[in-house]
Amino acid sequence: MYSSLLLLPLIPALVNSAAIRSADLAGYVLTSTGTINGGNTFPGVSRPLGMVKLGPDLYSGTDAYSGYLSNGNFTGFTMLHESGTGGAPKYGVVSQMPVVGTVANPLSDAINDTRAAPDFTEIGYYKASLGSGTVLEMAATNKAGLFQYTFPSVGKDLNVLVDVSHVLSSYRGQGLEQHFLGGSINVRQDTEPGYYYYTGNGTYNNGWNRAGPWTVYFCGYFDAPASYKTFIGTSLNSSTLAEFSNKTSYSSQTARLGALFTFQQQSVISRVGVSFVSETQACANVKAEIPQGTSLATVRQGTRDAWNSQVLQKVTTTETNVTKLNQLYSALYFMHLLPTNKTGENPLWTSSEPYYDDIFTFWDTHRCTTSLLHILQPAYHEELLRSMIDIYRHEGYVSDARSSFWNGAVQGGSNSDNVFADAFVKGVRGKVDWEGAYASMVKNAEVVPPNNNDPRDPTGSTKEGRSALPDWLKYGYITPSFGRSVSRAVEYSVNDFMLATVANGLGLQNDFQKYYNRSHNWRNHWNTNMTALGFSGFLGPRNTSGFISQNPISCGGCYWADYYYQALPWEYSFNAHHDLDTIVQYSGGADTFVQRLEMTFQPGVYSGNSAFGSTIFNPGNEPSFATPYLYNFVNRQDLAVKRSRFIAKSYYKPTPGGLPGNSDAGAMESWLLWNMIGLYPMTGQTTFLIGSPWFTDLSISLGGGKTLKITTTGGSEDVYYVQSLKVNGKTWNKSWLAHELDDWSDTTESWECEHGECEEDID
Ligand SMILES: *[C@@H]1O[C@H](CO)[C@@H](O)[C@H](O)[C@H]1NC(C)=O
Ligand SMILES: *[C@@H]1O[C@H](CO)[C@@H](O)[C@H](O)[C@H]1NC(C)=O
Ligand SMILES: *[C@@H]1O[C@H](CO)[C@@H](O)[C@H](O)[C@H]1NC(C)=O
Ligand SMILES: *[C@@H]1O[C@H](CO)[C@@H](O)[C@H](O)[C@H]1NC(C)=O
Ligand SMILES: *[C@@H]1O[C@H](CO)[C@@H](O)[C@H](O)[C@H]1NC(C)=O
Ligand SMILES: *[C@@H]1O[C@H](CO)[C@@H](O)[C@H](O)[C@H]1NC(C)=O
Ligand SMILES: *[C@@H]1O[C@H](CO)[C@@H](O)[C@H](O)[C@H]1NC(C)=O
Ligand SMILES: *[C@@H]1O[C@H](CO)[C@@H](O)[C@H](O)[C@H]1NC(C)=O
Ligand SMILES: *[C@@H]1O[C@H](CO)[C@@H](O)[C@H](O)[C@H]1NC(C)=O
Ligand SMILES: *[C@@H]1O[C@H](CO)[C@@H](O)[C@H](O)[C@H]1NC(C)=O
Ligand SMILES: *[C@@H]1O[C@H](CO)[C@@H](O)[C@H](O)[C@H]1NC(C)=O
Repeated sequence: MYSSLLLLPLIPALVNSAAIRSADLAGYVLTSTGTINGGNTFPGVSRPLGMVKLGPDLYSGTDAYSGYLSNGNFTGFTMLHESGTGGAPKYGVVSQMPVVGTVANPLSDAINDTRAAPDFTEIGYYKASLGSGTVLEMAATNKAGLFQYTFPSVGKDLNVLVDVSHVLSSYRGQGLEQHFLGGSINVRQDTEPGYYYYTGNGTYNNGWNRAGPWTVYFCGYFDAPASYKTFIGTSLNSSTLAEFSNKTSYSSQTARLGALFTFQQQSVISRVGVSFVSETQACANVKAEIPQGTSLATVRQGTRDAWNSQVLQKVTTTETNVTKLNQLYSALYFMHLLPTNKTGENPLWTSSEPYYDDIFTFWDTHRCTTSLLHILQPAYHEELLRSMIDIYRHEGYVSDARSSFWNGAVQGGSNSDNVFADAFVKGVRGKVDWEGAYASMVKNAEVVPPNNNDPRDPTGSTKEGRSALPDWLKYGYITPSFGRSVSRAVEYSVNDFMLATVANGLGLQNDFQKYYNRSHNWRNHWNTNMTALGFSGFLGPRNTSGFISQNPISCGGCYWADYYYQALPWEYSFNAHHDLDTIVQYSGGADTFVQRLEMTFQPGVYSGNSAFGSTIFNPGNEPSFATPYLYNFVNRQDLAVKRSRFIAKSYYKPTPGGLPGNSDAGAMESWLLWNMIGLYPMTGQTTFLIGSPWFTDLSISLGGGKTLKITTTGGSEDVYYVQSLKVNGKTWNKSWLAHELDDWSDTTESWECEHGECEEDID
C-alpha cells in the first residue's frame, strides 16, 4: 500500500485570488460538532474570539458546560458561555426566556420549556423551537446579541422574562457551582411611548476556576411596545417572591431580581449589549454593533463574513471531499471560540495593552493551539502574548488558566512559559516585551504562590504559579506532600527548559545554565523498578526515603490530590519532550522505545480506555497528544503516520459526538488540524515532526503575503505513507522540519533542531 507522496511545504505562493477571498467557506463548518458525548462544545452564535456567546441553557440534571444539552428543558437563553470545557460550568448569564401565558411567579422553577423540534445551528445563527410554540432565533456580534421572537397566536400573554439571577448550575457536588451575588435592574422609557429598554448588572462568583466576584453589565432594547413588571425575591437562592410590581428598578445584594416584559404582537426583536465595565458601555456596545433597525439577517451575515475573512479563508484547498472539508473548517472554527478578546472591557486596570480572557487552559492549548495560532493568526497571537504580560504586571502571575478576570485553575505546571518560549524561539518579536515575558516565567519558576485552599488539593495554590516549588527547589523532585507530584515534576522540567530557552536568547547565560540543569529533574523520578507488560523504567512517585511502588498503568484517582493528573505513569513517561534522547536511553534504547510505543497503541491492554479499544493511549486528553509522533525520534516515521492517521480517522468525525474528549477550548481540534497539515509542533522548540498530509494541496496564509503550501501526489484514503519529500524544492530526508528564525519562506537562514539541541545552519 505504499505509494509516492510528495510534500512541498514552505513555498511562497500567491493564493489570495479573488475567488478564494470571496469563498463562503462558512458553509463547511458544522457548528454542532463535538456538542455531545463529552465534547462540550458551544453550538450557539459567536464571532471569532467573540466576548458574546449567545445560546441556550438547558437543564436535565447534569452539568451543561456550554449551556447546551441535547436533551432537557430550556431555562433561558444567555449572552456568555464557554466552549469545550469540563470541570464545572461557567457563565450562562444575562438571560432572556420567552414565556407564553400568565406568569404568576417569574422566579419559579416551572419557568422552563421543552423542545418542540431539534435546535438548528450554523455559523452566526441559532434557532430554538419551544414547546409553547415560540420560535427564538439568535445572532450576535462581539459584544451584543439579537433575539428574534416569533410567538404563537394563542390569545395569551406573550412575555420575555429577564432574570438577572440566572446562571448555569453545577451538580457535581464539588463546591464549584456559580453563585448569584446580587445586582440591579432598571426599566427605562425608550424614545417612543410604550417602548422600554432595560439596564442593570449582575455579580457572580465561583464556577470552574473558583473565581472571586465579577460583574457583567447589560443593556437590552425591544423593538415593540410592551407592558412590564419588575420583581425581587426574598433571598439569593430562593424562588419565593417578595415583590412583583410596576416599580422601575430594584437593586439588591441579598435577593434575586429581574423584569417581565409582556407584548401584544407575535414578532419581537430584542437587542442586548453587554460590558464588564459599565451600563453605559453595555448600551454603547449594542448601539455600535447592532443599531436600532438592524435585521437578524444582517447580523447573521456579518458573523459569516467575519469567520470567512478572519479565519476560514486563511486555509484553502482544492479538495472536494465534503467530509474532509467539514472536518477542516469545523476544526478551525472551534479553535477560534476561546479565549475571548475582551480588549477595552477589562474592569480591573487601565492599559493600552490588549486583554484576553477565558484561557481554558494553557495546559490544554500550549501543544497544538498556540503553536498553530502563531502561523495562522500572527496578529492575534501577538495580542494574546502581550495580554499575558499585562496580566502578569498587574496581577503578579500569568496563570495557566483565567476566566472572568480571575486566575486559575492550574492543573500541572506553569504552561504560559511554554507558550512564551514557543513564540520566542520562532522569532515572534513585534510589540512583545520579552523582558516582561521572561520576568513572568522567572516568577513562576521561583516564587511559591499563596495557597488558595482549593479542597481538591489543599497542599498549595491552584490559582497560579507552581505551588510544588518548595520540593522542586529543595530536592529536585516532588514528594507526595504535594498533589499531582509526578505529573507536575514532568511539567516543571518542561517549564524550566522553556526558561532556559528564553534566557539563552536574551543572553542570560547564568539563568540558562540554571534552568537547563533544572529541566533534567524529571530524571529524578525515573524508577527503574517500575515494570509493566515486559517494560521497566517509568516515572514514579518518591519521597525523601526513596521510591514508592506504583503500577505504570494505573494513575489511581488520576485527579488533583493523586500522584498523576489525568494520565497514566506510562503516558507521562514520554512527556519530557525536551529530553527525548534521555527518555529513549532510559527506555532501553531505540528498539525498545519503538516497542514501548507500539505497546501504547496495542488494543485490549488498559480497560480504563475502553472507549478507545482499551489502548494505553488516550486520544481524548492532552498528555497523549505528541505520543504517536515520537516514532520520528527513532527513525520510524512510517509508524508515526500509521498511528496518528489511525487516531485522526477513528476518533474524530464532523458529527455532534465526533470528538474523543472535551474540546478543551479547541485543543482537540487543533491536534486534528496539525494531523491534516502533516506536521506536529514540538512546542518550545523549532522542530516540526513530519506526518502525512490529508490533502493533495493545502495553502495556509501566514500573514505578510507569505504562504505555507503543502502538496502531495499519489495519496488516497488508504495510501498515505510518505515516500519522498521536498522542502522549498530541495529533497529532504529528515523526519522533521525546523522553523526558520526569520520566517518560513526565507531559506537563507535556518535552525535545525534535534532532540531539543539546536545548531544554526546557514546556506
Ligand atoms: C420539562 O418540561 C416538561 C413540561 O413541563 C416537564 O414535564 C418535564 O418534567 C421537564 N423536564 C425537566 C428535566 O425539567
Ligand atoms: C420545568 O417545569 C415543570 C413544570 O412545567 C416542572 O415540573 C419542572 O420541575 C421544571 N424543571 C426545572 C428544571 O425546574
Ligand atoms: C449595580 O447597579 C446598582 C444600581 O445602579 C449600583 O448601585 C451598583 O453599584 C452596581 N453594581 C456594580 C458592581 O457596579
Ligand atoms: C441559600 O443561601 C443561604 C445563605 O447563603 C444558605 O445558608 C443556604 O444553604 C442556601 N440554600 C440553598 C438551598 O442553597
Ligand atoms: C404603577 O401602578 C400603580 C397602580 O396601578 C399606578 O398608579 C402607577 O401609575 C403605576 N406606575 C407606573 C410607573 O406605571
Ligand atoms: C471522504 O473523506 C472521508 C473522511 O476522511 C472518508 O471517510 C471518505 O472515504 C472520503 N470519501 C471519498 C470518496 O474519498
Ligand atoms: C481585539 O479587540 C480589539 C478591540 O475591539 C481590536 O482592536 C482587535 O483588533 C481585536 N483583535 C483581534 C485579533 O481580533
Ligand atoms: C548544572 O549542573 C552541573 C552538573 O550537575 C553542575 O556542575 C553545574 O554547576 C550546574 N550549574 C548550575 C548553574 O547550577
Ligand atoms: C530496585 O529494587 C532493588 C531490589 O529491591 C533495590 O535494591 C533497588 O534499590 C531498587 N532501585 C530503585 C531505583 O528503587
Ligand atoms: C515514603 O513513603 C513510604 C511509602 O509510602 C513510607 O513508608 C515512608 O515513611 C515515606 N517516607 C517519608 C520520609 O515520608
Ligand atoms: C540525507 O541527505 C544528506 C544531505 O543531502 C545526505 O548526506 C545523506 O546521505 C542523506 N541520508 C539518507 C539516509 O538518504
